[in-house]
Amino acid sequence: MYKAHCQVCHGEDGQGQMIAGIAALPPLWGPQSFNWGAGMHRVNTATDFIYENMPLGKSIQLTVQQAWDVAAYINSFERPQDPRFKGDVSETKETYHQHQGYYGQSVTGNPILGSESYPVFPLKKSDKQ
Ligand code: HEC
Repeated sequence: MYKAHCQVCHGEDGQGQMIAGIAALPPLWGPQSFNWGAGMHRVNTATDFIYENMPLGKSIQLTVQQAWDVAAYINSFERPQDPRFKGDVSETKETYHQHQGYYGQSVTGNPILGSESYPVFPLKKSDKQ
């Protein structure tokens, strides 16, 4: 699904495409993607968005099941930390993640999501002095 419908814009590795230092096509996971506090990491929220809007310019091409599958896929990778994180993934999961997302869980045998997350709001090249 991802390869057939998303990869052309969001990249083989999900990192989107940068043009002149700006994410012209946004990364869907990894250090520059939306963080674990963003609504888009919820599989149900991402499903709605993807079903209605993606692939960009050709909306409502996917079945509802395909939208769920690809939303689950993109949200099963590590991304920047939840900005409300205070040092403990299971506590953050308990307090803020009682919904349909994978934060605080291990997906397909990988490390628990959130435990190896990237810094929140990473500095972009242009912000550095
Ligand atoms: C033709 C290019 C294109 C294709 C193909 C495409 N996208 Fe996108 N996608 C975009 C662009 C451009 C944006 C940013 C839209 C905006 O900001 O309004 C985006 C935004 C998104 C976002 C929101 C990202 C964020 O940071 O909020 C998600 C999630 C997403 N796409 C998922 C998908 C999925 C899943 C597929 C495959 C079913 C897909 N896209 C196919 C161009 C594309």
